[in-house]
Amino acid sequence: MVGCPFPMTAATPAPLEFPPDFVWGAATAAYQVEGSPLADGAGASIWHRFSHTPGRVRDGDTGDVACDHYRRWPEDIALMRTLGLTSYRFSISWSRILPEGRGRVNPAGLAHYERLVDGLLEAGIAPHITLYHWDLPAALDDRGGWLNPDIAEWFADYASVLFKALGDRVPMWATLNEPWVVTDGGYLHGVLAPGHRSAFEAAIAARQLMRAHGRAVQAFRGLAPPAAGGRIGLVVNIEPKYPASDSDADRAATARAEAHMNRQFLDPALLGRTPPELAEVFGEAWVDWTPEELALARQPLDFVGINYYTRAVVQHDPAVWLQRAAPVRQPQATHTETGWEVHAPSLTDTLTWFRRRYGELPLYVTENGSAFYDPPQVSGDELDDPLRRDYLAQHLRAVHAARAAGVDVRGYYAWSLLDNLEWAHGYSKRFGLVHVDFSTQKRTPKSTARLYAQVIASQGRCLGRA
Ligand code: BGC
Repeated sequence: MVGCPFPMTAATPAPLEFPPDFVWGAATAAYQVEGSPLADGAGASIWHRFSHTPGRVRDGDTGDVACDHYRRWPEDIALMRTLGLTSYRFSISWSRILPEGRGRVNPAGLAHYERLVDGLLEAGIAPHITLYHWDLPAALDDRGGWLNPDIAEWFADYASVLFKALGDRVPMWATLNEPWVVTDGGYLHGVLAPGHRSAFEAAIAARQLMRAHGRAVQAFRGLAPPAAGGRIGLVVNIEPKYPASDSDADRAATARAEAHMNRQFLDPALLGRTPPELAEVFGEAWVDWTPEELALARQPLDFVGINYYTRAVVQHDPAVWLQRAAPVRQPQATHTETGWEVHAPSLTDTLTWFRRRYGELPLYVTENGSAFYDPPQVSGDELDDPLRRDYLAQHLRAVHAARAAGVDVRGYYAWSLLDNLEWAHGYSKRFGLVHVDFSTQKRTPKSTARLYAQVIASQGRCLGRA
């Protein structure tokens, strides 16, 4: 049993404390955990295709089995209960609902998520649904995917099926998970599905993603409760950028990197404009967004979800495609297995930056976590993972610091509930609160899970003084 890292003593004057309605969650994504991607009439997704293409995913790993969450979700809900989670953030596989991506609804796919939502509600855990976490129906990719302007209507139609089926029971909805990663990994650098490498396509996909986001929010608002109750928002990844030096070149490079990753989607969604640096980043591939695109992207949102993992210290580097900016490794810092610097104060910075730039809007940390080495098999009923545990404690304290600075952060979702398919890294990187033995599907809570349970049970007091 892991004790509280900062135990309270009689001398502790101001315990760190989160409010009683603070949301304590964990997150997953469909293709990363579900397995059985073609079961019960589902269509293939671009991730099914990508992972079955030799050379695309490390060790040839696929999501064919993953964590078998598609069948083991009752066991996983029981795990969530032992942690004391009050919310579970998961994504829906579009091609389970609409095997061809549009048109015909697959009742068996819908029934799966109805059972999951009802199971969560019975357990007292609020479902938080992400409509798109990167697994586009392959049939839509065949029609151009995120490059086809029709995708805004396809996405709104798909979203509406879910709003009507589950809107009476689901309190939180997110349209897209990390549109920047969809464009950067999927269309610019090609390391994620569909694996393209084109600046022109990345710039187009960005516009179509935000048009789709806007149309889905409009569809949500157009349905009266209970067909679409609850709240709807957008989830972005933010990695704060700091210049490596005071030189003009490093500062300009930092601004380019920051505009590309952190403001490319939030500025249109919340300010109705695009960052001026993007024209410089994309060069001839840049096309100004039309007034229609900007207006559609800017819909009133109920919340924004921020996924935070690390920061970047940036220097000018003319050899880097488009951005001409490169991260500088911090030798004195701890790095995770994905090579990311552990830097919790930057999470506080991210949340305060958001408020300064975009104003008052409820925020949730919708993902935060770390990959550190754990063995593939575990004996006993517990796995000690001190580095991940320390990461969690530090970042929860960083969230509290942002709240103390006046930022309206209403919840925290650990990434991830389970070790899972880390996209192109396959199963080689473990982010879970709970260890998964992929040869037996045995789940073993890590010490990070125990710490999280204690934090939740104590409303954060277990983390010590503010
Ligand atoms: C994604 C997750 C991913 C995590 C760790 C986020 O960008 O939303 O799906 O597993 O980062 O890389």
